[in-house]
Amino acid sequence: MSEHKTFYITTPIYYPSDKLHIGHSYTTVACDALARFKRMQGYDVMFLTGTDEHGQKIQDKAADAGVTPKEYVDKIVATVKDLWKLMDVSYDRFIRTTDDYHMESCQKIFTKLYEQGDIYKGEYTGHYCKPCESFWTDSQLVDGKCPDCGREVYDAHEEAYFFKMSPFADRIEKLLLETDYLRPKTRAIELVNNFIKPGLEDLCVSRTTFKWVIPVSFDEGHVVYVWIDALSNYITALGYENSRYNDFDHYWANNGDGEVIHMVAKDIMRFHAIIWPAMLMALDLPLPDHLAVHGWITFNGEKMSKSLGNVVDPFVLGERYGCDAIRYHILREMALGADSSFSNEIMINRINSDLANGFGNLVSRTVAMVDKYFGGTLPTERESAPIDDDFKACVTQLLAVVDGEIDKTRIKQALEAIFTVVARANKYIDETEPWKLGKDETKRARLASVLYNLLESIRVISALLAPFMPSTMPKVWEQIGASENDVKYEKLDKFGVLPE
Ligand code: MSP
Repeated sequence: MSEHKTFYITTPIYYPSDKLHIGHSYTTVACDALARFKRMQGYDVMFLTGTDEHGQKIQDKAADAGVTPKEYVDKIVATVKDLWKLMDVSYDRFIRTTDDYHMESCQKIFTKLYEQGDIYKGEYTGHYCKPCESFWTDSQLVDGKCPDCGREVYDAHEEAYFFKMSPFADRIEKLLLETDYLRPKTRAIELVNNFIKPGLEDLCVSRTTFKWVIPVSFDEGHVVYVWIDALSNYITALGYENSRYNDFDHYWANNGDGEVIHMVAKDIMRFHAIIWPAMLMALDLPLPDHLAVHGWITFNGEKMSKSLGNVVDPFVLGERYGCDAIRYHILREMALGADSSFSNEIMINRINSDLANGFGNLVSRTVAMVDKYFGGTLPTERESAPIDDDFKACVTQLLAVVDGEIDKTRIKQALEAIFTVVARANKYIDETEPWKLGKDETKRARLASVLYNLLESIRVISALLAPFMPSTMPKVWEQIGASENDVKYEKLDKFGVLPE
């Protein structure tokens, strides 16, 4: 266990412009698995998720639907919460950027930055991509189109406020290149070369043209443009500049004695790797410890997204396969930094090979043999053999390996390590051939030892899998006769915990 006491983890706040899909579920489930793992380790965890509810796109969608923006988002937010329930997401707090306390804090942050001189008034000329809600300069466009999604951009001119980014360029460059902030770090060079080296451009942080936004409190007609509103959620949700919550010092400003992690996909890496640290530096606040950036879930090679019309509905999948199977599949497929393609076929193969044939088989064979040979209770007389030692070592060393991967936010690798031990346990069954021992009356003590060792391995494996598949594992504990106490974190690197 590392020295950190508090653990604060956040998902992006999702746009409630449409129902969420399996891509959004990935980030949230990944954060949930980390939050659950850290809780199991004894950390004081705060897991935040929520919705980013302002902006032109939502205003337009609501108008199309003939309802007010608030009515529109309320409906979608309800489905978002249903989805997290279905996916067994154990968030501690849900922020909506339309919550009064957030709007008030965000206005205060904007005013503070203005009064300090970090925000100034100027004239905006550039290009706007509506679907991405992003402004781009000439040099950022790719073939005259949005560099993120490749769609048409519109010319925009207006009086606007800007956030001065250049004073923070050196510190941000160091943060990206010299610290463990960005995960995987391989992307730091690209960010530095594309955005910092050419000179960090000031960021347009206000608009005058749309209404469904937070007003700038000191200048009527101007509204806070999305990224200040959205990014500040990570601190307003803890009570920064508001009296709704009082957790900011505890989870954020608790320098050195706590860990803060944001997880996002690569589409919003730039905002979290450059703009967010700059905002925090301007506010003179501590920086988060890590930004974990994962790739996209793709479908036929393209990013899964509502606007491309290639989304997989997590509600349909959940009903068909069960939430734990989906959680396992997406967590096992996706590595930080890389994309991962989704298909029902890959998912079914994965469920069959790992869950049914691998882990399921291990549990059912072991439990069936304990029943068949000993009527469900092992005799106390035992006989060990040299072959047991390597197997036991594999099981007792697993915790340290999984801990190490989780500390580096490498969920896929943590699951791989667990399933290596599942395979090792199945191999142990083949090596010890309990069905042969069962036929020989003189080998009963040996058979009892083999089955006990298998039960112990299942205890450790299932306890380590519980953060990833929270609804299945308690059923396994029931089958192997493990109490809540037997699957506690402190007991996962020990052998011989289950009652003899
Ligand atoms: N509202 C902003 C985020 C503000 S955070 C201060 C936003 N919202 S979003 O609804 O578009 O969600 C983007 C996030 O959803 C991605 O960063 C990622 O976490 C998740 N994903 C959306 N589609 C995805 C895939 N196809 N694959 C993986 N993750 C995906 O951007």
